[in-house]
Amino acid sequence: MHDDVQKILIDEAAIQRRIAELGAELNAAYDDEDVPIFVCVLKGAFLFLADLVRHLRFRHEIDFMVVSSYGDATRSSGIVRILLDLERSIEGRHVVVVEDIVDTGYTIDYILRNLASRHPASLRIATLLNKPSRRKVEVPLDFVGFEVPDEFVIGYGLDYAQQYRNLPYIGVLKPSCYSDEP
Ligand code: PRP
Repeated sequence: MHDDVQKILIDEAAIQRRIAELGAELNAAYDDEDVPIFVCVLKGAFLFLADLVRHLRFRHEIDFMVVSSYGDATRSSGIVRILLDLERSIEGRHVVVVEDIVDTGYTIDYILRNLASRHPASLRIATLLNKPSRRKVEVPLDFVGFEVPDEFVIGYGLDYAQQYRNLPYIGVLKPSCYSDEP
């Protein structure tokens, strides 16, 4: 375990088992006719997307958005910015937004409203983690890996100050390693 991790919440094997289950749910929901576009919300979702799509058995496409809402603070600012937009149009297409975590919901709510205005055929959300205790805005989650408690989680794509994304598990950061100072 990394020195800055207080405890492991979800270990590597549990993450991979659950992602295989989510892949099976997606295989039941879509087929080759749909050719859905998986929209990976960077940076946090990059590992989840990479592992998830390896379970998919239907034709699909992948695109990326870079969205930032946190800066280097540990709490959401509520301000969402699109730093890099999708390459292709999603008009008339089935879309699955892939997130690492839904916390306050501000980010995914903004993304959903933004993508809905582009008139996709359907719009669903797959998130590895859900932290419902911190929700500020209700969002419909279609595919959810795990519910997590209100702790500062890192690893498997999730960062603190852009670090720890490489950890293969979801862990809790030691309080001595972060500060909420602006
Ligand atoms: C994180 C995470 C989600 C968002 C969730 O992104 O990837 O997009 O925060 O929080 P919310 O539900 O409170 O809006 P962040 O802005 O930290 O960028 P990152 O993906 O580059 O880590």
